[in-house]
Amino acid sequence: MEEVFKHDLIILGSGLAGLRAAVEAARMSEGKLDIGIISKVQLMRSHSVCAEGGTAAVMRPEEGDSFDLHAWDTVKGSDFLADQDVVYRFVNEMPSEILQLDHWGIPWSRRDSGRINQRPFGGHSYPRAVFAADKTGFYEMQTLYDTLLKYGNVIRYDEYFATALFIEGGRFQGLSAINMHTGDFHGFVGKGLIIASGGIGNLYGFTTYSQTVTGDGLAMAYRAGLPLEDLEFLQFHPTGLIPSGILMTEACRGEGGYLRNVNGDRFMEKYAASKMELAPRDIVSRSEMTEILAGRGSKGPRGLDYVHLDLTHLGAEKIKERLPLIREVCINFIGIDPIDVPVPIRPVAHYLMGGIETDIDGATRTKGIWAAGETACVSLHGANRLGTNSTAECLLWGKITGQEAVKYIGQGEKMPEAPMDRFKDEDKRIWEEMFNKNGSESVYTIKTELRTTMDKNAGVYRTSEGLQAGLNKIMELKKRFQNIGIKDKSHAYNTDLTSALEVENMLTLAEVFVTGALNREESRGGHARRDFPTRDDDKWLKHTLAFYSEKGPKFDFKPVNITTWKPIERKY
Ligand code: FUM
Repeated sequence: MEEVFKHDLIILGSGLAGLRAAVEAARMSEGKLDIGIISKVQLMRSHSVCAEGGTAAVMRPEEGDSFDLHAWDTVKGSDFLADQDVVYRFVNEMPSEILQLDHWGIPWSRRDSGRINQRPFGGHSYPRAVFAADKTGFYEMQTLYDTLLKYGNVIRYDEYFATALFIEGGRFQGLSAINMHTGDFHGFVGKGLIIASGGIGNLYGFTTYSQTVTGDGLAMAYRAGLPLEDLEFLQFHPTGLIPSGILMTEACRGEGGYLRNVNGDRFMEKYAASKMELAPRDIVSRSEMTEILAGRGSKGPRGLDYVHLDLTHLGAEKIKERLPLIREVCINFIGIDPIDVPVPIRPVAHYLMGGIETDIDGATRTKGIWAAGETACVSLHGANRLGTNSTAECLLWGKITGQEAVKYIGQGEKMPEAPMDRFKDEDKRIWEEMFNKNGSESVYTIKTELRTTMDKNAGVYRTSEGLQAGLNKIMELKKRFQNIGIKDKSHAYNTDLTSALEVENMLTLAEVFVTGALNREESRGGHARRDFPTRDDDKWLKHTLAFYSEKGPKFDFKPVNITTWKPIERKY
């Protein structure tokens, strides 16, 4: 056990939400607050840099957009599971975030007039995606990183792998992390903690996510007693590149791209005649799978049958200006130029709607802990998120949680005592128990089997048999995990050890996810049950809450906040 680090505010995660929180806390406290940012990656390797298509906000009320329209699109898109007070706060406060980033120097794409440009996205009834070509997340990250450098009182712990969260008497006490460079084990103590460590994309084999996105913050919070909300709702993005899963941004369709089946037909006409390719993602992904399962797709490798994203009619100039990353990826990864050739794609695991339960300010049930971004479930997206509402959520709730933390700490909050016994126990669990495991099971095989199981049994379409088979497999893998072997016996950059910790987290979350999906006997948004094909508002217009117990998740429910719109049938 090495040094215990102390900071007023600890931020776990260095993606968009974490950075925005750090900038806000530093700005609001005029650099006085002592902030520590812990991340298992180098800052600019956070997965947020992969966000492509844009960030939603109402910027042109004079041209016909409005807060009510953005709110309605979001609520309808969510299949009425979003909390409507949260949605209204979001749409009202987002435009100033766009301008704030503009003032910090982000190179937003612009109209010829010089005004910030916006483009269409699925489920939005107005072109409200503000963008920076198709590299929006990268430029947002770069802008926040540059801005953060103005403030001196921020210490970064890049490549520190957090292992456990400690709560005592209903308040934040500390967390533990391994310095991956040396293997040193550290305790961290703070007055406040913001968890902004991203989603769970790597639970799936075919995913848009970086290998690093393994749900560590969610699993830590859950084990420490914080409930996870609506974890069964995962978004499948309609256009994952075959065979890697790399995101082909929805902006391809926003800019006018078509989806075609093997016969060359624009099949969305059958499923969403008015919105066509720009229907919400849950509907487009189900439509693609329906085409593929009916034999109107093309044969792909490893069972990845596909349909086509056709951009050939957009012209070289538009593709080069608006979608340069997409073109580069297609050329480099599969040797085709989308200017000339349609792109093979299919639905791909993309985004977790659920997360750590928070209130509208991002506060969890534990004093001194907030969550923001994909890790959190403030309940903005309900059962299905609209494209470009996520980078927006990261920015806004990064800011809000940064502000809330500063207010809380400023009320004279005392630094908690370092929980030395708990730190030492955790050090022992990692470096004596996990590190010394010499069993015959490979962590990597377990991970691959888990991801295959999730692809197969918890995909776009779900059934009770498939989910049950998935759950049985997860329980088998959990058992086998007890018998893993850590082959690397060095302390420096031991990715065998950190992979084991990641897989342990992934198994924990997969159990909650699949059990929640089995429980929810209806179809809503991203959760489509073949055996319960319709939405059941009488029984299921409610949020799932999963609480940790030694024996497995315990479930409870809470009502949806409906302030304005009662659920109706979704038609596009
Ligand atoms: O398609 C995209 O560019 C993804 C955007 C999002 O998930 O919001």
